[in-house]
Amino acid sequence: MLGARCLLRALRSCSSAPCPRPKPAAKLSVRDALRVQTASGERVKVQGWVRSVRSQKEVLFLHVNDGSSLESLQVVADSNLDSRELDFGCSVEVQGQLVKSPSKRQNVELKAEKIEVVGNCDPKDFPLKYKDRPPLEYLRQFPHLRCRTNALGSILRVRSEATAAIHSFFKDNGFVHIHTPIITSNDCEGAGELFQVEPRHRVGGPLSFFFIDVPAFLTVSGQLHLEVMSGAFTQVFTFGPTFRAENSQSRRHLAEFYMVEAEISFVESLQDLMQVMEGLFKSATAMVLASCPEDVALCHRFIAPGQKDRLEHMLKNNFLTISYTEAVEILKQASQNFTFTPEWGVDLHTEHEKYLVKHCGNIPVFVINYPLALKPFYMRDNEDGPQHTVAAVDLLVPGVGELFGGSLREERYHFLEQRLARSGLTEAYQWYLDLRRFGSVPHGGFGMGFERYLQCILGIDNIKDVIPFPRFTHSCIL
Ligand code: 4AD
Ligand code: MG
Repeated sequence: MLGARCLLRALRSCSSAPCPRPKPAAKLSVRDALRVQTASGERVKVQGWVRSVRSQKEVLFLHVNDGSSLESLQVVADSNLDSRELDFGCSVEVQGQLVKSPSKRQNVELKAEKIEVVGNCDPKDFPLKYKDRPPLEYLRQFPHLRCRTNALGSILRVRSEATAAIHSFFKDNGFVHIHTPIITSNDCEGAGELFQVEPRHRVGGPLSFFFIDVPAFLTVSGQLHLEVMSGAFTQVFTFGPTFRAENSQSRRHLAEFYMVEAEISFVESLQDLMQVMEGLFKSATAMVLASCPEDVALCHRFIAPGQKDRLEHMLKNNFLTISYTEAVEILKQASQNFTFTPEWGVDLHTEHEKYLVKHCGNIPVFVINYPLALKPFYMRDNEDGPQHTVAAVDLLVPGVGELFGGSLREERYHFLEQRLARSGLTEAYQWYLDLRRFGSVPHGGFGMGFERYLQCILGIDNIKDVIPFPRFTHSCIL
């Protein structure tokens, strides 16, 4: 597809030399067509889906969208044109001239010479209606069609830009991208929320596909594989699907979600890790705001009013830090009645996380040093007496609660050996112990839930609305 600049160059070269035959119309995306500043009748071809049809006495107005931008291209046609099949939702190919628009709403419009309906759409049966701004909850029933609405279009374009922004952040900061496996034999988090992987039809007898007695699972985290790689590349990251068989219908849990994970060697303090986490959040968000401002603005205006200010507040302030012990004290002194009574040694619930963020003036807050008993075997022991903690860190953000989880890893062979032995994991994790035998270094890392990140910046209440095809308990549509 030709870009706007490319098209203009082609047209300019045509005007300076004699053009014996009219050039075929150049294919242009809606986004590129809308970017043309001074249209002077160049012939183009635009393909997309009709977002509105309005017939007046002498002219017919169409709005055509191809997903390249939130805005649709206005097409103006002669009312004599056969418009019987031109319905909201149908797909079309329009050829014509790009001309200056008399309306202030757009620079250019497409004066149609030919409109071809590529695929019909019966408005009686089509569940999306023209002029509707249907609630996101309603749209969830139509995972195969909802991407054709402005709301999902914007959210999914932001998702795409955010993916690129996250990759840029890591590339700019010298991280190596690692494809960690989807199928694995480890339960990194030790929470047992695993989906087991088996072929539908047993291959080669009664044994499982991969091993004789060790089952295989869909990954819950790429962390342990990243730790292997950080032992060679120093700074690594992965960004891929992660699976958890959590029996949750909450607005922030999915069975399949994307996680951004980083692992850094030669890191000795949580503060160094927290700096990378804050840097990732702020720089990826700045890139997203710059690359698709209209899409972000749609969410901030129509889906989550007030979110623009809330996000600016997060971006302009330094993130705060409190310890888990301080967090529990704050919760105990709160005037609010919690469903789960806050107590040292017990995990923080969503209601607690949300309270803590409010208490911190709606600035994201790192909670550090959690009780050892609450956290997985790989976290570094703080060796701090009766209230025994590990060097763990969670980042809590407004509207969502936990966005990042990370820690320093236990790099000392004997500490790790004892922790594994206590959990009965020594045999399975020999390779992990090996990493502490052969050139071990202090290191740490974190994981950020990508859908929760999108919820946080866009202000989307339900996680099911920021992923193209949500999977959760009792639901795997398509
Ligand atoms: O806190 P978690 O469980 O941390 C880990 O898995 C570490 N191994 C990551 C690491 O250090 N490399 O998960 C990380 C983040 C959470 O903070 C949350 O944002 C997100 O992943 N998350 C989920 N997002 C959607 N649905 C779920 N079921 C999620 N579970 C975790
Ligand atoms: Mg966590």
